[in-house]
Amino acid sequence: MVSSLSQTVLFSILLFLSLHQACAKKTHLNFYFHVTDVQANATDYGTIIVMDQALREGLDENSTLIGRVQGIQAAVGKDGSLETMFNFLFLNKQYNGSTLAIYGRAPLGTTIERPVIGGTGKFRMSKGYSLAKPVILSATRLVYELDVYVWHLGLKDD
Ligand SMILES: *[C@@H]1O[C@H](CO)[C@@H](O)[C@H](O)[C@H]1NC(C)=O
Ligand SMILES: *[C@@H]1O[C@H](CO)[C@@H](O)[C@H](O)[C@H]1NC(C)=O
Ligand SMILES: *[C@@H]1O[C@H](CO)[C@@H](O)[C@H](O)[C@H]1NC(C)=O
Repeated sequence: MVSSLSQTVLFSILLFLSLHQACAKKTHLNFYFHVTDVQANATDYGTIIVMDQALREGLDENSTLIGRVQGIQAAVGKDGSLETMFNFLFLNKQYNGSTLAIYGRAPLGTTIERPVIGGTGKFRMSKGYSLAKPVILSATRLVYELDVYVWHLGLKDD
């Protein structure tokens, strides 16, 4: 009994200390996902594409680089929808080296909502969602505006 009580007290102290160190923080990110080597048959059922594309601050093809999207997409829907498995690797000053793992279904030609299933670095323990709105859909260039909402550990030193 005594030992179970002292374990509870110890656990409470540890919990208090860890909550004091780290608390959930909400971050909203907005940037543009530029796909430059558009492959004509990317949505043919069964096609798998590996990609490494730019995340930029703006719509302009030369606007500041924020990071890269590295991952795999597969045309898994007979309606042309894709399954995407992406790591967003940040290279800007604020989040340099941190990543977000974004996974989910991507229907064509509409706003794509996907879960954020985790993260590393400043985005440890991330949960959230991302909305990707197509803004340029041409034969040679695709650009999506992304709004990403994540809840993650907010370390005191950040
Ligand atoms: C894309 O698909 C079309 C129609 O099936 C085909 O004619 C063309 O060769 C394919 N292109 C590539 C790069 O595989
Ligand atoms: C982006 O930079 C490249 C290389 O400097 C240049 O050729 C291109 O015209 C620029 N694009 C725009 C929209 O300014
Ligand atoms: C990001 O980190 C790398 C490796 O530590 C460093 O070389 C680079 O200059 C950093 N970039 C920025 C924008 O801080």
